[in-house]
Amino acid sequence: MNQDINYYKNKSIFISATNTNVGKTYASEKFLRYFARRGLKVGYYKPCETGVISEPLDGSKMLKLTKELNPQFNVNINEVVPYQYSLAAAPYVAKGNTTISLEFLKQRKDYLQSLCDVLIIEGAGGLMVPLEIDLFIIDLIKEFKSEAVLITPSKLGSINDTLLSIQALESRNIDFEFFINLYEDKQDFNIVSEPFLKDYFKTLQFLDNL
Ligand code: GTP
Ligand code: MG
Repeated sequence: MNQDINYYKNKSIFISATNTNVGKTYASEKFLRYFARRGLKVGYYKPCETGVISEPLDGSKMLKLTKELNPQFNVNINEVVPYQYSLAAAPYVAKGNTTISLEFLKQRKDYLQSLCDVLIIEGAGGLMVPLEIDLFIIDLIKEFKSEAVLITPSKLGSINDTLLSIQALESRNIDFEFFINLYEDKQDFNIVSEPFLKDYFKTLQFLDNL
């Protein structure tokens, strides 16, 4: 992380992951608290949530926290999660024959950004999750001009998943930081995955140290 907190003013942080259920929402909470602790007014945006029964769970939980941390972020859940679908699937599939508008998502991002210093944006699933046939989560990072954060898992398979996601980001010239969510197979991580990751990356960042 950049030690100059002012670097993040008027910026957005796009939190993606190697896959669904890796810890994006958990990371969003960490980042919201990290910036609020350092005196920045925080905001949260989840462009799309699927598997929504009565209300978007990620969006509602994070909006509640965001309002506690920044009472000026006075918006409702449908503004924070504009596209909501009941089918728990990739947005492209869950939306059926309706449309997800990139222009609309960008306008909404700009609006939410205007209500805070730093906007935490949570993706859906992993980087290559489709919203439209030619629009993927990874594309939103560039379209939103966000700082990219990749959350990677600690369970077996972490090496492969981490390298593949990094390759996708690098192939699009997206600068990023990645954080390991030391959670699943926590007790085995330092034996099973860390030896390679340490040799390869030299330094590792862990979400819990934020
Ligand atoms: P989707 O948005 O559904 O793609 O998932 P996600 O990437 O946001 O994952 P999420 O943060 O919801 O984490 C998945 C599950 O693991 C949730 O039930 C979390 O509460 C739990 N979890 C993730 N990381 C941690 C952790 O470090 N500690 C604990 N105790 N629970 C965690
Ligand atoms: Mg989530």
